[in-house]
Amino acid sequence: MKRKKITLWGVLYLWISEAIDKFWLWLISKIFAFLIAVFMSLQGRRMSHNNGIAGQGWLHIVDDPKFPEHPFFRKGETFPVRIRHASAAFLDDAMNCIRSISIKFSHHHLKSPFDIEMNTGVTGLFWSAASFIAFARNRQEKWGVEYVEYNRQYPEGLEGAKISVRRHATSFHNLHYYCKTPFLFIGKDQIKRYAKYRVLPADNEKESGIDLHPSDWDLSNQRILPHETRGRNFLKYEYEERVRKKEAKYRLQIQTRVAADDDDPEIFNNMVPWNEDIFPWHDLAHFHIDHTLDWKESTLTTFSLNNMPKTLGVLPAKSIYDYNSLNYMRKHSEIARKARLLSYKIWGMVPPIPDNDNRNCEEWGQ
Ligand code: HEM
Repeated sequence: MKRKKITLWGVLYLWISEAIDKFWLWLISKIFAFLIAVFMSLQGRRMSHNNGIAGQGWLHIVDDPKFPEHPFFRKGETFPVRIRHASAAFLDDAMNCIRSISIKFSHHHLKSPFDIEMNTGVTGLFWSAASFIAFARNRQEKWGVEYVEYNRQYPEGLEGAKISVRRHATSFHNLHYYCKTPFLFIGKDQIKRYAKYRVLPADNEKESGIDLHPSDWDLSNQRILPHETRGRNFLKYEYEERVRKKEAKYRLQIQTRVAADDDDPEIFNNMVPWNEDIFPWHDLAHFHIDHTLDWKESTLTTFSLNNMPKTLGVLPAKSIYDYNSLNYMRKHSEIARKARLLSYKIWGMVPPIPDNDNRNCEEWGQ
């Protein structure tokens, strides 16, 4: 039988098409970040998650780690910690929103050796740069109703929304938060692994706000319920009160898996959780928040995937369809964070969210 020859042209063709895919991903990421920076950040707004509250305290890496040893997560080490809880993407806590916790191992609003952002729900609403652009393009928000078209076209996204939104949350503290996308983890043994992170309340209080049987329409209609009695800021007030009375205590957990050359790309798909029986969650750290920060400091606080040691960073991505392209885009959106902080220097701080104003709003002054 004649063996197929790999020609020089074949190799060159492959190399060029891979380079084009990578360039396209780089270009899309840069253009997207630039548009966010100009049309949102320079007006003082985050891309999402504008409505939030930050707090500070201390984080303690567990004394008896069950996860592979890592020089950054040294057992027993204590770090300063700053977190921000938020609701995406409306300025009204009573709406049907995704909730978040973002953590930095620092008391500074920007600088830190390790940041991580997490949303409620074990899976996401989009799974690659291409899918994220489709999500952004099909938002079509009108007074709290959005993603009707996206949810119709992408049933996986609709499923992710079912798992992630928390309309009836009673506190930011009793929700479960997941980073969803995997990150690199190269520990002391130099073995290449992947890692995911999640946050739970330390006291295992039952998670609130989960709607077991939402209709498809409930997921697009994020407006407050008729006769809603909860105010626009009720979750932030509850959190302030909770922290003032008894602190808020959490567990940061990690899930790791060893990398292999022939890994199925699906392990990077944030719509597919890793099997917890095979890759169990282990406590990484305990942390407590002992005071909340005022509106100005909460608004200044920002998180970045560039704040990570190299051995815990973002996984490489090859194209806009690669599952790891989501984190690639986030890593390349630094300009948006910087532009937002610059806007406060030029035009001043955005005002706190008023208690008594129009409901179902996404922007100030609507
Ligand atoms: C699984 C995917 C993602 C997760 C879990 C996630 C999570 C978050 C969270 C929790 C925040 C709020 C942080 C805070 O409280 O300040 C945030 C903000 C933000 N995210 Fe994402 N995100 C994801 C995907 C993306 C993608 C694909 C982009 C594209 C560039 C992106 C760009 C941003 C930007 C620009 C901000 C606002 C930053 C600021 O102005 O401070 N995110 N994200």
